[in-house]
Amino acid sequence: MKIQIIIGSVRQGRIGPQIAQWVRDCIVGVSEAISADIIDLAEWYLPMDDEPFMPSSGQYIQPHTQKWSEKINQGQMMIFVFPQYNWGYPAALKNAIDHLYHEWKDKPALMVSYANRGGAKAATQLKQVLEGVNMQPLNTAIEIKLSELEFEENGMIVHPVEGLSQYVPALHEALALVINSMSIKDG
Ligand SMILES: Cc1cc2nc3c(=O)[nH]c(=O)nc-3n(C[C@H](O)[C@H](O)[C@H](O)COP(=O)(O)O)c2cc1C
Repeated sequence: MKIQIIIGSVRQGRIGPQIAQWVRDCIVGVSEAISADIIDLAEWYLPMDDEPFMPSSGQYIQPHTQKWSEKINQGQMMIFVFPQYNWGYPAALKNAIDHLYHEWKDKPALMVSYANRGGAKAATQLKQVLEGVNMQPLNTAIEIKLSELEFEENGMIVHPVEGLSQYVPALHEALALVINSMSIKDG
């Protein structure tokens, strides 16, 4: 199973990449059948509204949208790693989702939000959008409470492996659920 871990924040000095790397490190050892790539939206040039056709038509004229479509088509499961910004999720993530449509269809999605109190408000909003593009968001979502972690002067998490260890069982459980449902489908 090819998992894509999408970093939903793009601002300078963000902790998104640190959390995404932690997610990747936690899941790659779970099964030989899993591969996990990190997709950093900061590395994807996706200008807003520069396609003349509806994304649901699948007709993309811009090379960057075509490349984005190819990339997302390669994934079988998505893990969205995203912070809460002003009670919602980052605009960059919405923009990346809205560039495509069918590419997201039927894929299981695990949400890993983070904020002072875990980012439940952002996760609730994102879940609705993921359902809108016909993804299958898992009922289990991981909400990382930043208020319980220690931070370096540069804003990075101190000892992420120890600090985030309480979330590992939920992460493994969510993954096992998806692996099981896929093997049932594959017979
Ligand atoms: C624009 C903005 C809005 C934020 N809004 C919230 C919020 O609503 N609730 C919260 O707990 N933290 C909020 N924060 C704090 C972020 O959750 C925290 O800074 C986190 O590290 C941001 O993720 P990032 O570093 O990957 O960008 C906000 C931060 C930013 C930059």
